[in-house]
Amino acid sequence: MNHVVPAPAQSTVGRKLRTSLNIYDTELIDFLFIMSKKLENVISIRDFDRDGLLSILEMARAAEGTNNSDLLKGHVLGIMFIEPSTRTRLSFGAAMVRLGGEVLDFGDPSRSSLQKGESLADTIKTFSSYCDVMTIRHPLEGVARLAAQIAGIPVINAGDGANQHPTQTFLDLYTIQKTCGGLDNLKVGFIGDLRYSRTVHSLAEALSWFDDELYFISPEVLKAPGYLLEELEEKEVAYDQFNSPEDVLSELDVLYCTRIQEERFADRLEYEQVKSCYRIRKSLLEECGVKQSLKIMHPLPRVDELADDIDNTPYAVYFQQARNGIPIRQALLSMLLQKNI
Ligand code: CP
Repeated sequence: MNHVVPAPAQSTVGRKLRTSLNIYDTELIDFLFIMSKKLENVISIRDFDRDGLLSILEMARAAEGTNNSDLLKGHVLGIMFIEPSTRTRLSFGAAMVRLGGEVLDFGDPSRSSLQKGESLADTIKTFSSYCDVMTIRHPLEGVARLAAQIAGIPVINAGDGANQHPTQTFLDLYTIQKTCGGLDNLKVGFIGDLRYSRTVHSLAEALSWFDDELYFISPEVLKAPGYLLEELEEKEVAYDQFNSPEDVLSELDVLYCTRIQEERFADRLEYEQVKSCYRIRKSLLEECGVKQSLKIMHPLPRVDELADDIDNTPYAVYFQQARNGIPIRQALLSMLLQKNI
């Protein structure tokens, strides 16, 4: 568990970090640096408590707008994605480059020796010996945890199957905090593929540390997994489940939309039955009388579940959400690598 610790006296590395990021709150920086000593990997949002989550967001705030720093000069980020990605892969790269570091991209797995039958473990072991920190995305749940055990460098989970996507959760929390003014006392609705969406699983777990009400909206076959609902019950989180967005839209402060994840369905017929189960569009928001302050989020990519007639309304924050991937990943890379300086 990543906890908050008391702010120490100003450290040399803290000074270096402060100068590089051009911020002058010494207590904050030293405090964040000490936090970084405890951050060895980023595998699951379950490894963070409320203070641990908030400290990452603080660090992201400090990193915001840091486009030309040499903080991570001489360090290499390895990117090993065995599943497609646009935002996560590119924003990790941009975050590293903007902090003066370099990026080594594993590239298309079909061009690697995985094709010759090399094991994933040997591949990770080899790849990790060429970099200082690595981020991995893989369709199998648990692969990031395995990578952390064999890599010998800090590992960041960029999505493991339907399980977790913790860096997405940090940027989701950051977006909610910035656009709603905080993370408590919110009614947050999740709609769509709640069964397979790792972003939903990670975010719901993270929000369980805050004083929010959660609403899960999906067809029966795409309901949130039982283990997640049990966790929420154990933590006495207020939640409810609905089939139709019309039943709850007017209540919400945040609506978190998700794509129906075609690639995770074992049964093609089942996918065909639910693939167009809902579509959030401007007229629906008007008909339901949503709050003026409603924020609509989506981890993206979207297919047809979120109409583009919402893009230019004040509700839409999903492209801002994608941009927030940069300061969040800058924060995480800095915290993980400061440990090694
Ligand atoms: N949100 C997200 O993970 O997007 P990508 O799949 O494009 O990385």
